[in-house]
Amino acid sequence: MVERHPYKVDVVGSTPAGPTNFSVPLAQESTLPKSKSKGTLGPLDPRPMSQSSVTMTEMVLPVHTNSLGTIFGGVIMSWIDIAAAIAAQRHSGRPVVTASIDDLHFIAPAYNGWVVNLKASVNYVSKTSMEVGVRVDAENPVKACSHHTASAYLTFVALDEEGKPTQAPPVVPESKEEKRRFAAAELRRKWRLERRQLHGR
Ligand SMILES: CC(C)(COP(=O)(O)OP(=O)(O)OC[C@H]1O[C@@H](n2cnc3c(N)ncnc32)[C@H](O)[C@@H]1OP(=O)(O)O)[C@@H](O)C(=O)NCCC(=O)NCCS
Repeated sequence: MVERHPYKVDVVGSTPAGPTNFSVPLAQESTLPKSKSKGTLGPLDPRPMSQSSVTMTEMVLPVHTNSLGTIFGGVIMSWIDIAAAIAAQRHSGRPVVTASIDDLHFIAPAYNGWVVNLKASVNYVSKTSMEVGVRVDAENPVKACSHHTASAYLTFVALDEEGKPTQAPPVVPESKEEKRRFAAAELRRKWRLERRQLHGR
């Protein structure tokens, strides 16, 4: 039996993308089943956010760069999609598809020979869909310095054996930072639903 425990969630630090003037109910968070250890969880038992997080490292090669020697945005997008898909699959134990990608801003370039580090984590699960946040940092291996290159939020949907959307297990934020991400992701989901209604999708 899964115990429900409504964490009190405070949004601290940066605000989520999109309007924030919603009346937001307490996040529907779950606690981990105490009697079950990792590896024996049922398919829909809640899982910790940290369990599915992904760290992916790539090197910028000449084939990835434009005439300025900086990486193509599309290459970064593809790496973001892959890192996020791995996190969503790892969390849900299901095949997943990308339903949408929110605004993607490229903050700083990465150059030929540099190393790109991507960190992805499942921030929020509603029913069949999951928001995954990805942060991309570019590292100059010679100068041993690194800077924030891009961030993105993607929505993935878990699929059943017939390729239809199916329920994904709840995600449990544990640290203060994870709780902040969970609460911010819940606001973004409301904003996405409103935007889709507005566009009739
Ligand atoms: C994503 C997809 C599975 C949704 O299928 P659907 O029949 O519309 O399913 P539903 O309307 O029941 O929605 C299922 C979930 O997806 C979410 N969803 C659907 N479209 C979405 C979108 N554009 N953005 C964010 N979430 C979306 C819904 O909110 C719902 O979430 P919930 O269950 O957590 O409440 C379907 O549109 C699809 O297969 N798209 C193509 C995916 C693909 O090929 N991606 C690769 C890149 S092209």
